[in-house]
Amino acid sequence: MNEGLELRHHTAEEAAGLIDRLVELYLTVYANGGEFHSEDRYRRQLAGHMQRDGWDLVTATVGGELVGYIYGFPLPAETRWWGGIQEPIPAGFTDEDGKRTFAISELMVAPGWRRRGIAKSLHDELLAGRTEDRATLLAEPDNTAAQAAYRSWGWQKITMLRPGWDHAPTYDVMVKQVSQTVRVDPL
Ligand SMILES: CC(C)(COP(=O)(O)OP(=O)(O)OC[C@H]1O[C@@H](n2cnc3c(N)ncnc32)[C@H](O)[C@@H]1OP(=O)(O)O)[C@@H](O)C(=O)NCCC(=O)NCCS
Repeated sequence: MNEGLELRHHTAEEAAGLIDRLVELYLTVYANGGEFHSEDRYRRQLAGHMQRDGWDLVTATVGGELVGYIYGFPLPAETRWWGGIQEPIPAGFTDEDGKRTFAISELMVAPGWRRRGIAKSLHDELLAGRTEDRATLLAEPDNTAAQAAYRSWGWQKITMLRPGWDHAPTYDVMVKQVSQTVRVDPL
């Protein structure tokens, strides 16, 4: 079904030459997305996120054409990711130590390539082998396709969150357990 589909991981260094293509696909996918989805804001978001330790990008290409991608990074102990979260939340939910949570920041597939399992392949490839306990992402409540996808892939809504950025929407906070590894803290 996805003949010729290639999935590839990229570090930030490797992705430096891909930035214009990443932005181009973003602008195509969010063509009617308003101020929040502007090129300028997304370039600043990407530049900031690519500096995070452990940033990981998986691209999907067919014959060299970029048809989708996903990226994320582990949350450091001091993170602003959880700013704007709505109470009530489970005790300790936002505690981070750099190893607890992998945050997925973007997942997108080009309009002509949807419903072929490409997003699922990207998602599974990014999370395979992660050693964090859990993954998290933010999804708009009315994003029917994404909500259906995440629920079918085992994600659960915990609460809602409105980031502090200008024009930011209010998102569902989604979480998925990713690693069964039992961490033993040093005595
Ligand atoms: C969400 C998105 C990444 C899904 O990409 P995709 O490659 O089409 O997804 P998949 O083919 O892997 O679909 C996986 C499952 O998601 C669900 N799904 C995907 N699109 C759907 C839609 N339009 N309506 C209902 N369910 C949908 C289905 O359960 C689907 O499984 P199925 O095809 O076996 O029924 C894509 O629609 C997209 O890029 N949207 C714009 C960007 C975006 O919203 N990203 C997520 C931000 S949180």
